[in-house]
Amino acid sequence: MKNPKITRKITQGMYVLTTQGGGCIVDAVARVGGSEHPLISVAVAKTNHSHKLLRENDRFALSVLGENADPEIIKVFGFNSSKDIDKCTQCQTVEVENVPIVKNSLGYMVCEKVDTIDTETHTLYIGRVIEADVFADQKPMTYAYYQEHKEELTKAKSEQGKTAWVCTVCGYVYYGDEVPDDYKCPLCGLGKEYFKKQS
Ligand SMILES: Cc1cc2nc3c(=O)[nH]c(=O)nc-3n(C[C@H](O)[C@H](O)[C@H](O)COP(=O)(O)O)c2cc1C
Repeated sequence: MKNPKITRKITQGMYVLTTQGGGCIVDAVARVGGSEHPLISVAVAKTNHSHKLLRENDRFALSVLGENADPEIIKVFGFNSSKDIDKCTQCQTVEVENVPIVKNSLGYMVCEKVDTIDTETHTLYIGRVIEADVFADQKPMTYAYYQEHKEELTKAKSEQGKTAWVCTVCGYVYYGDEVPDDYKCPLCGLGKEYFKKQS
């Protein structure tokens, strides 16, 4: 492959995926159709705890992050696992249709799971929007914006003194002394050999 970084130019947003028990930051979201109750797909890495939660739960929600999103939300939901911490009490959330959603967001959509598609590293969860609301009519954060402002947006975490390892293909940052041998990037599914220490 000459340069897989071109995939970073695919325009995607930044969302907090939530379901009962936790959730995580996702960018791999697409709207399928445009009816009043559209279908939404979200790709979730099999290595994420959210994947297990979504297998068990019938509903999930996506809270849309704005460019002004609190970096703490990205830190809590994107760099921790719901199997270790209760993410929904560390950020302000409120329940809508029995699903937690993030208050400090531009709005949310609650989906009823209708289908799943299994791929090598991720499962595509497809849901029908059953409830949605807009909190603020502001600029949504794109994945490209996140990449451009990653340093500020992940500052809270890097300040804890851990080494940052950057996936050379998708830009995902793993924090820790070493990337574990069996680690798979939650975004692109590639292994340890694709991670470079951030200088
Ligand atoms: C900018 C960004 C985008 C991400 N996009 C996705 C995604 O689309 N799908 C996914 O499964 N994980 C994605 N992740 C990774 C998860 O948010 C992360 O691995 C999280 O800690 C998983 O938490 P969990 O174990 O509680 O599910 C993304 C993380 C970041 C920082």
